[in-house]
Amino acid sequence: MAPDGALPALPALLALLAALLLPGPGRAQTWVLPQEATLPRGGSVYLNCSTACPQPLKLGLETPVDKELVSEGDTWKLFKLKNVDSDNSPLCFSNCPGQEQTSAIASLTVYEFPQHVELAPLPAWQPVGEDFTLSCRVQGGEPRARLSVVLLRGQEELRRQPAPLGEPAEVMATVQAGREDHGANFTCVTELDLQPQGVGMFRNASEPRQLRTFALPQRPPHLTVSTHNLEVGLQGHVHCSLAGLFPAPEAQVRLQLGGRELDTTVTHVEDSVRATASVEVTAEEEGPQPLVCTVLLGTRQQEARTTLTVFNFPAPNLTLSQPEVSEGTEVTVQCEGHHGSTVTLDGIPAQPPSPRVQLQLNASADDHGRRFLCSVALEVDGQVFRKNQTQELRVLYGPRLDQRDCPENLTWPEDSWQTLTCQARGNPAPNVSCQHESTGSRLPIGIPQPVNLQLAGTYCCRAVSPRGEVTQIIIIHVVPKPLLPPLLVILVAVLALLGIVGTAGYVYNRQRKIKKYKLQQAQEAAAMKLTAAQPSPS
Ligand SMILES: *[C@@H]1O[C@H](CO)[C@@H](O)[C@H](O)[C@H]1NC(C)=O
Ligand SMILES: *[C@@H]1O[C@H](CO)[C@@H](O)[C@H](O)[C@H]1NC(C)=O
Ligand SMILES: *[C@@H]1O[C@H](CO)[C@@H](O)[C@H](O)[C@H]1NC(C)=O
Ligand SMILES: *[C@@H]1O[C@H](CO)[C@@H](O)[C@H](O)[C@H]1NC(C)=O
Ligand SMILES: *[C@@H]1O[C@H](CO)[C@@H](O)[C@H](O)[C@H]1NC(C)=O
Repeated sequence: MAPDGALPALPALLALLAALLLPGPGRAQTWVLPQEATLPRGGSVYLNCSTACPQPLKLGLETPVDKELVSEGDTWKLFKLKNVDSDNSPLCFSNCPGQEQTSAIASLTVYEFPQHVELAPLPAWQPVGEDFTLSCRVQGGEPRARLSVVLLRGQEELRRQPAPLGEPAEVMATVQAGREDHGANFTCVTELDLQPQGVGMFRNASEPRQLRTFALPQRPPHLTVSTHNLEVGLQGHVHCSLAGLFPAPEAQVRLQLGGRELDTTVTHVEDSVRATASVEVTAEEEGPQPLVCTVLLGTRQQEARTTLTVFNFPAPNLTLSQPEVSEGTEVTVQCEGHHGSTVTLDGIPAQPPSPRVQLQLNASADDHGRRFLCSVALEVDGQVFRKNQTQELRVLYGPRLDQRDCPENLTWPEDSWQTLTCQARGNPAPNVSCQHESTGSRLPIGIPQPVNLQLAGTYCCRAVSPRGEVTQIIIIHVVPKPLLPPLLVILVAVLALLGIVGTAGYVYNRQRKIKKYKLQQAQEAAAMKLTAAQPSPS
């Protein structure tokens, strides 16, 4: 180890070699203290050169470093070496009269902390089960032989190795990502071990890098819709879910219909994510529309798609040429549906099937209040949708009054309560009144009334509306009340008959009993006469 530098160093080197190879007796020795020193780069060190020669001709220090003589004695010199910025080997030499030059070499080791220790950025998201690389770059750090690089996950050592040469020094390790690595902090630490030199151990650490890991199953999410055929203006519901996610709360879900983002509500339960959205469509979206559910986690995504058929199906348009007409007027009823549909008017389908149908009629009194039903059917993807519309026709017609409305002959018993019903038809509704033909007295309609003999007679009932007047004659018969109620007469007759029969029976019986008694008395008298004529045998 020769001090580098100028030519004058050469003789010193030769002298050293000679001294090492040819150690002869009587040589005055030279020493240097300390023989080894470890100091920070740019630091200073004191070196003491001394010799055994009592009166040395020359005592000096050879070094490329700035040196300063601090103090000296006859056989020693103390130097201060300043601003030492690299390893070197200063040489102390001395010349004793009559002897060869002798020397001693010190070894200076410069150390320096790394200026920069950095762990390369980790992937923003790392799939579980896949490898990733930790890469640490160390700038500076001396002496390299005493510098180690350690890669850590939290406090756990993943790799330890001596720092390689080169600037910057790079150390790498491949690690398989696991679920437990989610949120873990990775660091790179350098260790400058100067303990053997008695200086100490120096650690420098990089900024920690946090890793996020994720697991997304290799299958599409489960996508369901309330209907695959959605009508404009109605609401449909979309559900999309996927289980087996890690970390589930980080998962995002997007629901899109025809490229349009749906307003989605996302919930996370255990290891699954679930999204729901209501979907409303406009007439502009008519036709098949792709519905896509995308679950995003980390750097990956899974999607499911289906098709929603949007259809526009307004209710049919049912029109009457006039909603209110006079009897005998021609009326046109027209029903029109959305293009692509088929309409049915009053149960009669359009022939050939078309979205439009009409019918004409001569309005009659019977058509008053008639409801026309227009029904329209639309087939979407094999599913038939129907809508209806009704309209009522009003016909203006004069009063109608006949047997059905007002009975011609009425027979009412005297003293009973009876109600006359007499209702005329017509639009507007006619006013009806009935009057006795001769007396002119009015017969109330629809009100119960007592029947007496004066009520009988012929009445003229009149129905009047702004559209005319009709009359109907009705005859009311009143059956007079009998003087005695027939049941009582029969009862009296039966009692009288029973009385006569009873009396006759009694009289006959009495007569028979008297005759019998008289006959008995006559027989007894005859018997007594017979007994007196004959003597007794006893
Ligand atoms: C990692 O470091 C961050 C801050 O730098 C800290 O909030 C987090 O708790 C650390 N993670 C672990 C697993 O220690
Ligand atoms: C390296 O560590 C030492 C002490 O261990 C510290 O004095 C020095 O400032 C550190 N260097 C950097 C760049 O952080
Ligand atoms: C409608 O019918 C009535 C009688 O039923 C007739 O008098 C009238 O001329 C008809 N009108 C038309 C326009 O056919
Ligand atoms: C339309 O008419 C059909 C049959 O006439 C009926 O079953 C259905 O309930 C009606 N729909 C509406 C909305 O009125
Ligand atoms: C009403 O009674 C009269 C006689 O009282 C009779 O001639 C007429 O036929 C009857 N009319 C009806 C509809 O019964």
